[in-house]
Amino acid sequence: METVVSGIRPTGNLHLGNYFGAVKGFLQMQHEYNCLFFIADWHSLTTHPHPADIRKSAYTILSEYLACGIDPEIAPIYIQSDVPETVELYLYLNMIAGIGELMRTTSFKDKARQQLHIDRVHTTEGDVEHEIFNESNKHSVSAGLLTYPTLMAADIIIHKAVKVPVGKDQEQNMEMARRFARRFNQTYGVDFFPEPASFYYSHKAVKVPGLDGSGKMGKSEGNAIYLIDDEKTIRKKVMKAVTDSGPTEPNSPKPEPIANLFTMMEIVSTKDTYDYFNEKYNACEIRYGDMKKQLAEDINAFCAPIRERILAIAADTDYLDKVARQGAEKARASAAKTLNEVRRIIGFHSY
Ligand code: ADP
Ligand code: TRP
Repeated sequence: METVVSGIRPTGNLHLGNYFGAVKGFLQMQHEYNCLFFIADWHSLTTHPHPADIRKSAYTILSEYLACGIDPEIAPIYIQSDVPETVELYLYLNMIAGIGELMRTTSFKDKARQQLHIDRVHTTEGDVEHEIFNESNKHSVSAGLLTYPTLMAADIIIHKAVKVPVGKDQEQNMEMARRFARRFNQTYGVDFFPEPASFYYSHKAVKVPGLDGSGKMGKSEGNAIYLIDDEKTIRKKVMKAVTDSGPTEPNSPKPEPIANLFTMMEIVSTKDTYDYFNEKYNACEIRYGDMKKQLAEDINAFCAPIRERILAIAADTDYLDKVARQGAEKARASAAKTLNEVRRIIGFHSY
């Protein structure tokens, strides 16, 4: 059976973007593949180096993974830092990764700009490199941030995974993972690591929009609707969604904020509901207040059972400890097997 690996950083609660962009794929794949899902707590240190309680943050995602329906008996869930074998592979990959290629990745540049306090709007070609080497800049960029893609590659290939369910925003990191797997094979003259591919369960990447006018839903965008949000919070967030005064001509194209509202409805509501409001829109009879009320109800109907399960599971720390321990055992066994081979291939002693 083919192996599948994916992870999410524990930097907050799961939101609808995480669910429909990633977790929904995990749920489908767990029945068809040899899956391992993890919580990328080391990766969260690249941008949040002083976490208040990193174990608690990891357990938040663990509870939410379980509440969404990941079955740890068939798909182990582990916390990245419980599998130290990954770090050894990360070290080997860092030896063959180039600083230049790592510095050129867009997510590095974006996050480095934040760490260097460079104004996002006024950026120029080479600004990151310039400021990194500028000795008078009192801010520095974490080397861990630079090597984010090698750690991500290690997470994936330590289990020799071939498919990785992720959202579209991870494409460049996935390209690097393939490159490092290929380079390892070339460097040591072996055909050992498969090249992992991104996997979109519905055959195209899903982008869950924000309801604040443009762009995607995200934690850092400040527009997320969380699975754990209660009915009142959901209603408040949806009723605030950006709209306009409505179309004046039948069958008008939808401006982005309106298109986003419809995309969200397509994701969480029934087809009948979507069609009803779409027809109203095309007939210039749309009442956005009614549409938002319906959307809030449908989002709540989707989230409510998950929310209840999150609350119940999060309180059961014995169960969470058991899941994390069993997940770590299975993941370590799988990782140790690969690492033993890697050590032998490079020429180190292996037992
Ligand atoms: P965030 O952007 O909120 O910080 P993460 O970067 O932790 O979320 O993303 C975890 C996973 O969820 C990734 O696989 C990512 O591609 C996916 N994801 C996040 N936001 C969205 C979205 N709005 N639409 C689709 N997928 C998303
Ligand atoms: N970079 C991913 C994100 O921000 C998290 C991640 C770390 C990951 N390691 C991974 C995803 C390995 C898939 C596979 O969401």
